Amino acid sequence: MTNITYDNLTATVIAATGTDTEPRTRELVTSLITHMHEFIKETRLTLPEFIAACRFLVRAGQISDDNRDEFILMANILGLEVLIDIIGHDGNPQTTVLGPMYRKNAPTFANGDSIVMAMPEDGELTLLEGTVYDGDGQPLAGAAIEVWEPSTNGLYENQDAAQPDMNLRGRFETDENGHYAVRCLRPTNYPIPDDGPGGDLLRMLGRHPMRTAHIHFIIAAHGHEPIIAQLYDSSDEYIDKDAIFAVKDTLVVNFEPASAGLDVDFVVRYDWSLRPNAAARAA
Ligand SMILES: [Fe+2]
Repeated sequence: MTNITYDNLTATVIAATGTDTEPRTRELVTSLITHMHEFIKETRLTLPEFIAACRFLVRAGQISDDNRDEFILMANILGLEVLIDIIGHDGNPQTTVLGPMYRKNAPTFANGDSIVMAMPEDGELTLLEGTVYDGDGQPLAGAAIEVWEPSTNGLYENQDAAQPDMNLRGRFETDENGHYAVRCLRPTNYPIPDDGPGGDLLRMLGRHPMRTAHIHFIIAAHGHEPIIAQLYDSSDEYIDKDAIFAVKDTLVVNFEPASAGLDVDFVVRYDWSLRPNAAARAA
């Protein structure tokens, strides 16, 4: 029988893992146990603090549903998803976090179409266009582009019963010249949901909930690593203080006033560069 002590507990817990455990699961949980035990030792975590943390996570689960993921929100607040993105995309300057508001099966549109199903009174229509290039700098035809954004009230359609289903979401495809064009709203900065444990966390840390104004993207093409990204408005007051640390200089764009004759208020031009995926590199 092992006499459990401060010094042997961590190794004893790790050694209890079964031999059939999947290797990656073993690696992740072994590291997690090691770091959590070290954390408790370093901070000398007390039982009331531990119970409070458990209750905090229980509340995060209780407030989550199909349209709200409080765990991703808190991971964003702590910079976890940004770090995973930086590592996972090997420093690609055009990627950032997905965020919790992505929905599959958005409607498909032709280039130049508008994803604005219900124009808010304070909405400013924007033409967002550019070219998708491959790893050799050649225009990429047939690349899939997904775009989504909140309305000017700061709410995505799935958070707001007043908006039509799938409002401000759309799927596009680059033409034979690799060109794409989307009509959308100039994005508005908005607070991440702060009425739950994520908001409590922000307040405990003396932080604000505001996200820099942004438009979400996924760009994908056969044989290439997809890009998950957001474009940020350079003039936004939160450009240097995004609540989730997701802004990269390379994703900041200028909303230029549209020239006379165009049906939009602003124009943004932005090009994307897709890297070949591992299979394409190996070929
Ligand atoms: Fe967002």
